[in-house]
Order: sequence, then C-alpha cells, then structure tokens
Amino acid sequence: MMRLDKFLADMGQGTRSEVKTYIKKGMVKVNGTIAKRPELKINEKDDKVFISDKEVIYARYEYFMLNKPSGYVSATEDRSEHTVLELITENLRDDLFPVGRLDKDTEGLLIISNDGDMAHRLLSPVNHVGKVYYARVDGFVTEEHVKIFSEGIDIGGGITTKPGNLKILKSADESEIELKIYEGKFHQVKRMFEAVGMKVIYLKRISMGEIALDNSLKAGEFRRLTEEEVSRLKGLV
Ligand code: URA
Repeated sequence: MMRLDKFLADMGQGTRSEVKTYIKKGMVKVNGTIAKRPELKINEKDDKVFISDKEVIYARYEYFMLNKPSGYVSATEDRSEHTVLELITENLRDDLFPVGRLDKDTEGLLIISNDGDMAHRLLSPVNHVGKVYYARVDGFVTEEHVKIFSEGIDIGGGITTKPGNLKILKSADESEIELKIYEGKFHQVKRMFEAVGMKVIYLKRISMGEIALDNSLKAGEFRRLTEEEVSRLKGLV
C-alpha cells in the first residue's frame, strides 16, 4: 500500500506538489472513482489508477543505461551543475539515482535505477564487480605499467588498489588503453596513472559487470535495459 501522491510522483507523473494539484482538481481516478485526497492509500499492484483518463501502470523498478556525456555530475540534485538525471527524459520518476559515480568529465556507461538492492550488490567491494574503462593517456604506456597495475598500486591517501588489468591498445605519445578494475575509489583510474607519473586525458567507462555500453548510444543518449540485461545485472544468469 502507498499514498496516491507518492505513487503518481514515483511513476513520473510530476513532482509531489504537481500531482497533489492534479488530485485536488479531480483529474485522478482510482477504480473508477475520482480521488480527491493525496494521502489516500492505494494498493499499487491491484488498484486501477487513471490520470486524465490515462492509466498509470505500476513499475516497481526501472533500469536505464546512459552514455554519460562530459559536463554532467553523477548526482540526483546539484545547485549549480547539470546532473545525469536531467538526461533521463522518458520517465522522470523521482526515485531514480545513478548507480555509482563517474567524474564530471568522464563519459560512458552509467546505470540509472531505483533498485537500491541491485545498486548495493553492484557497488559493494565484496562482490568484485569488474569495471572496464577506455582511456587516452598522455605519454607512452608500456608493459612495465601493465606489471605495476597488476600488482596493485599506491594511489595516495593511504590507499593501495587491488590488482588492475591493463591492456595497451596503442603505445605512443598519446597512448590508448583499457583498464579493468574491481573497486571504485574516488578518481581511481586517474590516480592510478598519476601514481606512475602520467595523466589521463580522456576517460570512458565501457562496461560494468556483465553489462556493456551499447555502442549505438551517442553521448547523452539513454535506453532502458532489456529484460536479459536486467537479469544479468542482478547476477541471475
Ligand atoms: N576513475 C576515475 O578516475 N574517474 C571516473 O570517473 C571513474 C573511474
């Protein structure tokens, strides 16, 4: 059971105060009867809720894949910056959040959901979920770096990372690499390269656990996860 106004706001029908206004105006029906009280308790799974004669179907959890562009912060709200949630324009229910963080200037795979248990499992270090990043790095990345990263590296602040799996795609003045890590320390990839005297100049996450970024999504675009991806995300297959 849940309050009618919360139900409508969670299902993306407007902010809590907007949906209260719709209710007061008589635009909302529950099981065929106009409901005038925002605090009315409804059974979200069985009751038939209509707003302006359009049925509002209950979806407990939603899962989106966003190709995060640079310039957006991984937060639900921010006073001065644009947030990744502003990019999920399809269904702005008010309980969505980004699952983990990417830096403002980092691009790539970010899962947006309202499933707290899944987020916890995905992010908890005990589960060792691998995250793969593509980066362009200033300077020559060599096999020596591969070895150093594979042993874990002191990134300052008393933190030594777990072993990371570094793959060199191009070793040049500006190198290209893929790095798989199993934890998510603040600025981890950038700090791992800083620890060997190098600077990351472009960073993009390309996978998280069993979920890979859909290459057809341009930066700033999103789509819902397929059912199969949701199952994989939850570790069911
Ligand atoms: N590592 C970083 O340095 N930044 C990110 O956004 C993600 C991982």
